[in-house]
Amino acid sequence: MKNFKMVINACDKIGHINREIYGHFSEHLGRCIYNGIYVGENSPVPNIHGIRTDIVEAFRNIRLPVLRWPGGCFADEYHWKNGIGEKSKRAKMVNTNWGGVTEDNSFGTHEFMELCELVGCEPYISGNVGSGTVRELSEWVEYMTFEGVSPMADLRRENGREKPWKLKYLGIGNENWGCGGNMSPEYYAEVYRQYASFCKNYNGNQLYKIACGPNSSDYDWTETIMKRLFHDHRWQANGISLHFYSIPDWNNKGFAVEFDDEDYYTLLATTNFTESLITRHAEIMNRYDPDGNIGLIVDEWGTWYDVEKGTNPGFLYQQNTMRDAMVAAVSLNIFNRHCDRVKMANIAQVCNVLQAIVLTEGDKLVKTPTYHIFDLFKNHQDGECVYCWSENEDLCEGKNIPMITSSASLKDGVMTITAANVSLKEEAEISCDIVGFEGKEVSVRLLTGDAHDHNTFEAPEAVTIKPHTAELKDGKLTVKLPATSAAEITIR
Ligand code: AHR
Repeated sequence: MKNFKMVINACDKIGHINREIYGHFSEHLGRCIYNGIYVGENSPVPNIHGIRTDIVEAFRNIRLPVLRWPGGCFADEYHWKNGIGEKSKRAKMVNTNWGGVTEDNSFGTHEFMELCELVGCEPYISGNVGSGTVRELSEWVEYMTFEGVSPMADLRRENGREKPWKLKYLGIGNENWGCGGNMSPEYYAEVYRQYASFCKNYNGNQLYKIACGPNSSDYDWTETIMKRLFHDHRWQANGISLHFYSIPDWNNKGFAVEFDDEDYYTLLATTNFTESLITRHAEIMNRYDPDGNIGLIVDEWGTWYDVEKGTNPGFLYQQNTMRDAMVAAVSLNIFNRHCDRVKMANIAQVCNVLQAIVLTEGDKLVKTPTYHIFDLFKNHQDGECVYCWSENEDLCEGKNIPMITSSASLKDGVMTITAANVSLKEEAEISCDIVGFEGKEVSVRLLTGDAHDHNTFEAPEAVTIKPHTAELKDGKLTVKLPATSAAEITIR
């Protein structure tokens, strides 16, 4: 057992943890939408207008705050008008990015907005810049948000929706440095300004416009975009995105469940790189936007392995173990601690794709270890992040893998601490001094298991949250964290 000191200072506020940091991403990719979230109205799987009810319930339970759609790379070849109106008449297309399958457009704007209403989350629409037009995106915004008489609002009403929807988050393209058009940052910035100019705020609906930001450590992209998006004495964007996947080697990704200790630690080292990435991109942003008005939107993050054997390589279906749970715990603690700049984050992806929080097969649904991390961390949503420091040990020399990861927040007089012990072998005992907050009671929920442990359709509860113990005495908290575990510690 290793002992670690921790200090939390409730008087030292870091910033507001936007609930959107706990956001998700759903793409027309593999079985994320079709045969995942959306099974169609005639399915024997219980559904509301084709949307699985067990998925809605699972998403509501973790208070899923925002859902990004329809892509990803798919967004830049999506033409929204093909996804409205009578389903049998909707145009079909080829999903060129993901397996070349036929997309029948039966899940479109109305279905997505209904999903968000059922879950109680904000929609985040990614617009088509790569192969679309300014007019097309401008009309989509009009279709969704204009209340009065207009061609697009009338069309929406014809399709059965009288009232406009509220739409806050609008992405102007996706990965326009790659699948979204292979643009240079200089060119994209000009295109962005043109698109953004014609996406209007109707009837008090205020769009939060997100420009395509860098791929991982492309600092030049951030520099150029920041330089060019301040124009006419005002910012043209509210946020810029950052995409970063925990992939140590793109040519040899390995499998979700088959890995050794070295693979485990290498993956965690890659995940920890998120911290320096955010710091360096934020340093660039600070020079142009010292008041922190522009959000860094980490709208794609997570693990990415080789697909499960026997599944379509274009569908990106992977299992999810306690190793993924550790990646999620490390990442979410990093986002919390950088909440002064990180205003939203969306794990890729919400269902049956990459680091999914739920997996489905027929009428069965499995909540993955990553799902349970989102459950453990949910009380940080809309809290005030406070100073939280921990003594630490680097688990592999030179690799940057701190054994303990943590963050703390305050909300409604309650302190939430999330801490994980990523060691594969060693238990940790944490003794934490809490300054500026007096709590009377402590309760702990814990997720733990062997790094390879995961949930299957046969054993869906193999990895699940359990109650745990801690001691709170004279402002000192003592808690033991088993190897490969994450805890939510609540003090009230
Ligand atoms: O999430 C899978 C893909 O990864 C997305 O479509 C794309 O934006 C990224 O490259």
